[in-house]
Amino acid sequence: MPTILATGGAGYIGSHTCVELLNENFDVIILDNFHNSVPEVLSRIECITGKKIKFYNCDVRNKENLKKIFSENKIDAVIHFAGLKSVGESCKIPLDYFDNNVSGTINLCNVMKEFNVKNLVFSSSATVYGRNPIPYKEDMPTGDVSNPYGRTKYIVEEILKDLYASDNDWSIALLRYFNPIGAHESGLIGEEPNGIPNNLMPYISKVAIGKLEKLTVFGGDYDTKDGTCIRDYIHVVDLAKGHTKALDKILSSSGIQIYNLGTGKGYSVLEIIKAFEDSTGQKVNYSIGPRRAGDLAANYSDSQKALKELGWKTQYDINKMCKDTWNWQQKNPNGYK
Ligand code: NAD
Ligand code: UFG
Repeated sequence: MPTILATGGAGYIGSHTCVELLNENFDVIILDNFHNSVPEVLSRIECITGKKIKFYNCDVRNKENLKKIFSENKIDAVIHFAGLKSVGESCKIPLDYFDNNVSGTINLCNVMKEFNVKNLVFSSSATVYGRNPIPYKEDMPTGDVSNPYGRTKYIVEEILKDLYASDNDWSIALLRYFNPIGAHESGLIGEEPNGIPNNLMPYISKVAIGKLEKLTVFGGDYDTKDGTCIRDYIHVVDLAKGHTKALDKILSSSGIQIYNLGTGKGYSVLEIIKAFEDSTGQKVNYSIGPRRAGDLAANYSDSQKALKELGWKTQYDINKMCKDTWNWQQKNPNGYK
């Protein structure tokens, strides 16, 4: 079976994807600098799958360390999760975001090229669509983004398109994730944000467990069915499975392929709160507050292309997403600590 290097494989999406890769019998090597994750994740992945993973503590910006990994292993493809991901933080420290996300990717691709490894799956984001009409489709124009984080994703997409245009041996998948939530149903791995969560679902579960007092719903006056913003929430395990399908595709062809990974359905913030309460029996204390700068009223995916070309579709509904989030939260009230 092919050997896959997962950069940022100890993170939220990376850890769930590594579990699915191991379940599908891929050999997995994880590289991470633990900027936003902890070593405990690795033993949890091994515990779920009963398989060993090879790990390197390495920063993707460190060329010499990357070369060592590529010279010690025969790598068939790379999934590049490693990066910084907070929209708010990116407005405060944009240079760090460009350095990590853009320079890190260029460094990685240079080393891949040197070792003739030209199969790459890149973690992109729905944020590249900006203000397009919904549902978002892969052939829509991109780049109208409102923050440095989103811009790094757009820039890397453009760099990878140029890379393929320069050398058609590359086989690259740009996966545009929508809003991943939930956790592995074992409750052994999940999302553990540093400090106060920025994202909706981790905030809700911290309120439910009593670590935060109240959720503020950012805006109740949008032009949507109940006035709150609409997003396409996807179970992280469904998202993870999309990566194994994308790998199958890029390992058997060359080109640059772009896929939305979303459910195609939108839920409002109030619907998410209700779904969480209904599926877990926990009350979520909330109030409606002002809008958050930069939020769009609604976005969700058209997920037909991934269905047609990868044979991928989501399995888990919103109740399962909420239940698995709560199971992870209850079993790990202090995260991995
Ligand atoms: P995460 O922070 O949990 O995981 C990222 C991992 O990369 C972490 O383990 C971190 O320690 C590691 N890392 C960061 N910089 C590194 C570097 N320079 N060298 C080595 N390792 C490094 O984030 P996630 O939610 O798992 O996201 C994974 C990818 O998906 C990111 O690129 C993110 O931008 C993208 N994405 C995430 C979302 C989301 O909502 N979670 C949505 C769209 C796209
Ligand atoms: N929200 C609240 N209160 C909170 C947190 C969020 O009401 O405390 C609302 C937001 O206003 C938004 C919705 O919940 O309407 C979802 O917000 P998130 O912050 O969870 O997610 P975003 O859609 O803003 O962004 C996420 C990731 C981005 C990624 C994007 C892809 O954070 O990195 O999905 O669609 F690019």
